[in-house]
Amino acid sequence: MYVLVLSCVYVGLVGAYHRMAPHYSRNKGSLRNVRTLNLTETFFSSLQNYAVNAKPANETTYPWIARVVHSTTRDVPHVCTASCIDAAIFITAARCLFVLKVNYTTIIYRSKRLRALAFVLPSEPSKQAFDDIGLIVVKRKNVIGTWSVIELFTNVNRTDDAFTWFGNLDYLYGSVNTKVLGYSTKKNLILTPEQHYNLTELGVVIGLDICASVLSNSVNGSMGYTVPCYHSCTFGQMLRNNAICDSYHGVEGGAIFDTITNKLMGVATWGTYYPQHELPVGFAFANSDHFYKDFSCAKRIRNDNGLLVTKGYYQSICEAK
Ligand SMILES: *[C@@H]1O[C@H](CO)[C@@H](O)[C@H](O)[C@H]1NC(C)=O
Ligand SMILES: *[C@@H]1O[C@H](CO)[C@@H](O)[C@H](O)[C@H]1NC(C)=O
Ligand SMILES: *[C@@H]1O[C@H](CO)[C@@H](O)[C@H](O)[C@H]1NC(C)=O
Ligand SMILES: *[C@@H]1O[C@H](CO)[C@@H](O)[C@H](O)[C@H]1NC(C)=O
Ligand SMILES: *[C@@H]1O[C@H](CO)[C@@H](O)[C@H](O)[C@H]1NC(C)=O
Ligand SMILES: *[C@@H]1O[C@H](CO)[C@@H](O)[C@H](O)[C@H]1NC(C)=O
Repeated sequence: MYVLVLSCVYVGLVGAYHRMAPHYSRNKGSLRNVRTLNLTETFFSSLQNYAVNAKPANETTYPWIARVVHSTTRDVPHVCTASCIDAAIFITAARCLFVLKVNYTTIIYRSKRLRALAFVLPSEPSKQAFDDIGLIVVKRKNVIGTWSVIELFTNVNRTDDAFTWFGNLDYLYGSVNTKVLGYSTKKNLILTPEQHYNLTELGVVIGLDICASVLSNSVNGSMGYTVPCYHSCTFGQMLRNNAICDSYHGVEGGAIFDTITNKLMGVATWGTYYPQHELPVGFAFANSDHFYKDFSCAKRIRNDNGLLVTKGYYQSICEAK
């Protein structure tokens, strides 16, 4: 369990856009048709927080949505999107947290500013961050009344690390109508720390084959990966040049949720930028044992009354049985 109270030096928010997909693999095909993932040969970059053809959304409809800001007094710089999943606990992409200091991090939630208390990073990081989930525990005193939360999608439990359970999701559960929600800007902007981001949403298709099929057909040298991904259209629609495929929503920490149950499946974490057309986005499904372990660590930090541990030393609460 890694609880970060003093994180690494802030390294800046303005990421370089990739002209080429950064995840070329020398062994084309080596990941296809394997039952166990081999994650040693890939690298996925963070999302660039932009959307194309997404619909404006309103916080009053999604009161559980939040923004992560690296300032204690200002609303900028915006770093990523987060979702409230329990009182004082927010879920986002772990890679969003690596560039932040706890002391300077605030969550803008229901128009209120909440100071971060601790970050919980994945206790078992997956090599290429397929399970890239981070949790932010905030100080509780600022929120009056009840917390607006989105419940986790517990309709399917993880049964293997090759995401077979995810590939079978539709059969297990019936129809899943998925949306992604988060704070985005426009494509191809030169980003500054003052950049403004709007809450937007997009209906998406999720699937185990989306990254594998779309990436290997869109980017020369890329083979794609059979991991949870979403895209604005299916592979079939892409082959037919359906205009719906021109839409995109890729923001770090964006909420992937099922509109039928209104439950959160996971957070958007990785993707690749390609100027010519839009590509799928990888997301981390919040249902691994490690995730639940980290979530219970976050709850212990939140519930700590200050008597058990000195502020800033939460590691021991999470290592306790
Ligand atoms: C994963 O890929 C690396 C590099 O190609 C290879 O050395 C390793 O044996 C592979 N592991 C498995 C379990 O296939
Ligand atoms: C969201 O809805 C509220 C209440 O209906 C409204 O006051 C606010 O202007 C809306 N915000 C945006 C960004 O549309
Ligand atoms: C960060 O928080 C700790 C604990 O409250 C405090 O001692 C320290 O002065 C803070 N640092 C900054 C730069 O605010
Ligand atoms: C998933 O696991 C949790 C406990 O870990 C359990 O409460 C829930 O019923 C399980 N869901 C399914 C669909 O089996
Ligand atoms: C945010 O929304 C406002 C109002 O619709 C719009 O004028 C502005 O350009 C949008 N900003 C971004 C960064 O998309
Ligand atoms: C892939 O390479 C071929 C041959 O070099 C080229 O014609 C094609 O446009 C390329 N496709 C993409 C998506 O870059």
